[in-house]
Amino acid sequence: MKRELALEFSRVTESAALAAFKWLGKGDKMMADGAAVMAMRAMLNTIDICGKVVIGEGKIDEAPMLYHGEIVGNGCSEPLVDIAVDPIEGTRMVAVGQSNAISAILVSEADTLLTAPDMYMEKLIVGPEAKGVIDLNLPLEENLKNISKAMKKDIDELVVIILDKDRHQDAIKMMHDLGVRVYAIPDGDVAGGILTCVPFSPVDCLYGIGGAPEGVLAAGAVRSLGGDMQARLILRSDVKGKTPKNLAIDEEELKELRELKVEANRVYTLEEMIRTDNIIFSATGITKGDLLEGVVRNGDIFQTETMLIRGKTRTIRMIKTTHDLRTKTPFLIPLIK
Ligand code: FBP
Repeated sequence: MKRELALEFSRVTESAALAAFKWLGKGDKMMADGAAVMAMRAMLNTIDICGKVVIGEGKIDEAPMLYHGEIVGNGCSEPLVDIAVDPIEGTRMVAVGQSNAISAILVSEADTLLTAPDMYMEKLIVGPEAKGVIDLNLPLEENLKNISKAMKKDIDELVVIILDKDRHQDAIKMMHDLGVRVYAIPDGDVAGGILTCVPFSPVDCLYGIGGAPEGVLAAGAVRSLGGDMQARLILRSDVKGKTPKNLAIDEEELKELRELKVEANRVYTLEEMIRTDNIIFSATGITKGDLLEGVVRNGDIFQTETMLIRGKTRTIRMIKTTHDLRTKTPFLIPLIK
């Protein structure tokens, strides 16, 4: 992938973020998501790539989602790339006007991403200082002790970010008993995972069960930032508080796993999830968050903030962009206005 391509993908997440912003606080996450998907797809189709969506939002019949296997790009020229998308990471946050919603995309050489289905994933993520010391086969408590040792921090100085869900209450209690500082966030574990790798962020580790697509997106950024991650796909009925044991749902998920040639309950390393450094990751803030500023509007003028990473060189660009609605690419105007 030529380096000039990177900027093209920042335009993709900027456009999706601007389209999502139109629906901020309107209480309708479906409309917000639909608008972001449309903007993302339209921008992707202007880029000279032959892209295959390997981590998408839905299945082929679930229009208008960017579905698994969808081909995007301008006429399908080289290079062949795999794409993981999350037009809105935090759809509920956009609908209710909460912080930390982002739009994200990960682009990689063909056949180098873990093709995780839309199911749950247990994730353990750390920054560069604790690379190589995590092991999801060990109890969380042991991992936290190993991480604090590697980071030369007392355990009561360690900061762990986790989704504030019922299924995590035991883990949260255990961490509190251990003296760990726990930042429990309502949604958005992609940004949470990336924060572990950002210099000057207070977050040392992310643990918890969240979406598998979000896990692969976070893994792309984490690999490019020199951090570490391990993950395990989990059947919905094995996630506490989700669905009671249901053979039909299990069978559907197991079928998808077999089709995609991945396994539940097996620990995947970062290098197994992202099998190249030749990746591009772009995320644009929709609402103000710990990782990125949100979209700001003043009349026809909008401002966005984007984190654009090129894995090959580990260059991270923080891009502040001013958009003038009156001269924006015509197909985007109705989606943003
Ligand atoms: P969406 O934008 O798809 O709603 O994802 C938000 C999110 O919080 C993710 O960050 C996280 O991985 C997942 O949902 C957790 O799923 P659940 O809300 O079912 O616990």
